[in-house]
Amino acid sequence: MCGIVGYIGEQQAAPVLLDGLAKLEYRGYDSAGIAVYNGHEIEMVKSVGRLKVLSELTHDGTTLVGKSGIGHTRWATHGSPSNDNAHPHYNKDGSIVVVHNGIIENYMKIRKMLQNKGYEFNSDTDTEVVAHLLDYYYTGSPLSTIIKVLQRIEGSYALGIMFKEFPEQVFAVRKDSPLIVGHTKDGNILASDVPAVLKYTRSVYFIENYEIVCLEKDKMTFYNIDEDELEKEPTTIEWDVAAAEKGGYEHYMLKEMYEQPKAVKDTIYPSDSRIVDGRVVIKELSMSDEDIKNIKKIYIVACGSAYHAGVTGKYVIEGLTRIPVEVDLASEFRYRSPIYEDNSIVIIISQSGETADSLAALRDAREHGVRVLGIVNVVGSSIAREADSVMYTWAGPEIAVATTKAYSAQLIALYLLGMNFAQVRNTITEDKMSSLIKDLAKLPDQIEMLLASKEKVQRFANRYIAAQNVFFIGRGIDYAISLEASLKLKEISYIHSEAYAAGELKHGTISLIEEGTLVSAVLTQEHLYKKTISNMVEVRSRGAFVLAVTTEGNTEVEKAADYVIYIPQTNEYFTNSLAIIPLQLFGYYVAVGKGCDVDKPRNLAKSVTVE
Ligand code: F6R
Repeated sequence: MCGIVGYIGEQQAAPVLLDGLAKLEYRGYDSAGIAVYNGHEIEMVKSVGRLKVLSELTHDGTTLVGKSGIGHTRWATHGSPSNDNAHPHYNKDGSIVVVHNGIIENYMKIRKMLQNKGYEFNSDTDTEVVAHLLDYYYTGSPLSTIIKVLQRIEGSYALGIMFKEFPEQVFAVRKDSPLIVGHTKDGNILASDVPAVLKYTRSVYFIENYEIVCLEKDKMTFYNIDEDELEKEPTTIEWDVAAAEKGGYEHYMLKEMYEQPKAVKDTIYPSDSRIVDGRVVIKELSMSDEDIKNIKKIYIVACGSAYHAGVTGKYVIEGLTRIPVEVDLASEFRYRSPIYEDNSIVIIISQSGETADSLAALRDAREHGVRVLGIVNVVGSSIAREADSVMYTWAGPEIAVATTKAYSAQLIALYLLGMNFAQVRNTITEDKMSSLIKDLAKLPDQIEMLLASKEKVQRFANRYIAAQNVFFIGRGIDYAISLEASLKLKEISYIHSEAYAAGELKHGTISLIEEGTLVSAVLTQEHLYKKTISNMVEVRSRGAFVLAVTTEGNTEVEKAADYVIYIPQTNEYFTNSLAIIPLQLFGYYVAVGKGCDVDKPRNLAKSVTVE
């Protein structure tokens, strides 16, 4: 969603702002703008569309001269993408300017109040009320003015603020939207997310709710809402700059698919390996054996692909431990007054660690005294910080909007968790555990092998760029794989696709099958082969073209399929990690074939910080 940046220092601000915004492009946006103090006033340039337009308008930032500024990429929520609605927003004489990520929920009420007092609005946005409120409450002290405004606004926000009267200072504050700051070699920088600052620093401060930071050329000062100064410790970001760059690949998504063997390996064997002497050890769980033995129920809560990983997690954890697992979409869970059973735990899965609904679900669970474990990729993100314990997926920065490597790493975290719980609860034999550990260790090479046969998938995908509808079917874990395969295809290629539990098709959906409709069947669970083959026969006899993704050796499937992709043998619980690879490639190549903007699909944002 929206991205904010700010800079003050020895360099010209505009190029730094444009560069930072470019690193936040992946979050999704439809307009952008920057504001720079030019020695006399705060000068602003905004544009609809890609950042390229803003760069052209400002000659790569050179026409905006000044050493302090703020910038923004906007993903429209209130009001269409337009110059007026683009940020920065400003008060009546342009002496106070604001960029904002999040939503001011009570903006209508404030807008009316301000209009009654004679304030005129130039945009349809919720953000503009902040600029006018800052004007309305202005005391001559930026800090006390900002604090007054915080007491009026509700919702989520990360704000970057400049006052013309205080050109040597840039302010920022947040509530429920991410915000980081860091020292550069010649100044200070603020941003919504790590990639924007990586080029300048690896040492960042995560701003907490209601903390205010004042950036000056040579120092940063943190305050709480009572104007007390705060001491904060920086966090070192281990990612290197190259990890967040495209590195010669045509798209981030392709690069990230190719990083999956490493993401999987790093999640199994981080510096503090999770496999030690034939056992699964997850130190960061901070749960005693007694705690684990007492678990009566697990709730897995997440959104999108992370939810799909959770669906697989349910099958794996229930299968290995016999602990009942409920999987929920965070946007539903948070409003359904979930009935938390005694001795239950909640697992929140999130790549960004900032997804608004997942964060709200986490808070609900904690308010009810339920232990929360976060499975999170972005170190230091809100979910990582607010969960009782966090198990990181070591996938590194994921830039493409459509997740691939973070999803693969989430699967591994869930397998490890299931294995660890099974070991503690004695629901697994030693032989079975060592065979699982062996199969887990093989996954990175097996994924690599599947990636190596990408041309075959590409040739097949090229036949489907004109498809109107695609169906993905499977049973059990194969259904979970289908959910993710379907999302991958539709979100980047804009082809309508649906995932169905294979046995459910005939209860309505089969009426959509016509001559030539592509149905992709996933068959990796041996005990379900025959059942899914019957469903393939049903759709094929109604004209469907059937693609099967199945395990080597299951040649029986060939009689019911038109095209077969084989994946290597692995344990039945781990098949998702392999079967998803050709299906990710399929979605990717269909989208590339159609000429879609694969890394930044329309209407989508990488980090969904509004509900
Ligand atoms: C799809 C995708 C999304 C995310 C979802 C949750 O490719 O990436 O469906 O999985 O928005 O995001 P996180 O994991 O950041 O909570």
